Amino acid sequence: MQFFIDTANLSDIGQAQQLGVLDGVTTNPTLMAKEGISGDEAVRKHYKAICDLVTDNVSAEVISTDYEGMVREGISLADIDPKIVVKLPMTMEGIKATRYFSKQGIRTNCTLVFTAGQALMAAKAGATYVSPFIGRLEDISTDGMNLIADIRKIFDNYQFPTKILAASVRHAMHIVQCAKLGADVTTSPLAAIVGLVKHPLTDSGLKQFLEDHRKVNEKAVVII
Ligand code: G3P
Repeated sequence: MQFFIDTANLSDIGQAQQLGVLDGVTTNPTLMAKEGISGDEAVRKHYKAICDLVTDNVSAEVISTDYEGMVREGISLADIDPKIVVKLPMTMEGIKATRYFSKQGIRTNCTLVFTAGQALMAAKAGATYVSPFIGRLEDISTDGMNLIADIRKIFDNYQFPTKILAASVRHAMHIVQCAKLGADVTTSPLAAIVGLVKHPLTDSGLKQFLEDHRKVNEKAVVII
């Protein structure tokens, strides 16, 4: 299973990279705006900075909504660095653009996926990744994990090579649930990745181990 971080924040990306478990980054226009990145040159510079921090897989989303614009923008984004994956929305135009990039051998991430049918369509168009948004489904009282299970079943039935990139992941348990269901990738904020490590019994257990070690070693020093 691959771990991506869902942010455009260079410090968070750097911290996740230092853990040694990071496989990629996903961004979107909202996340870029959150970092105050605007204007074509600044956006390109920021994507390059992200690419320089990680080993591969940096999803950069197009803003255009028409096929020609998506193709033009996607080509330009892919030109920034070989690590770039062109992120395209799940629309009719987005599907056409996904097909175009698939034929060109340029990797794509089909985003804003909320149904198994949309995921099937993205796979048919040759998307490298499909991004079902589990947190946003749960926000409207819909089971996001059923969607992951349905997509896994469909992709396995026909051996689609498209990878399931579970997105809109909000916490560590989402990552665990996605892992149990066979999602290929999760993309989440740094806090959710760190949440996989944390447990209060680990902290109290370690504290006890270190105290016991210190006690016996203090005694040893007294005997000498
Ligand atoms: O990768 C998609 C993700 O950024 C959406 O997450 O938390 O805005 O629903 P969220």
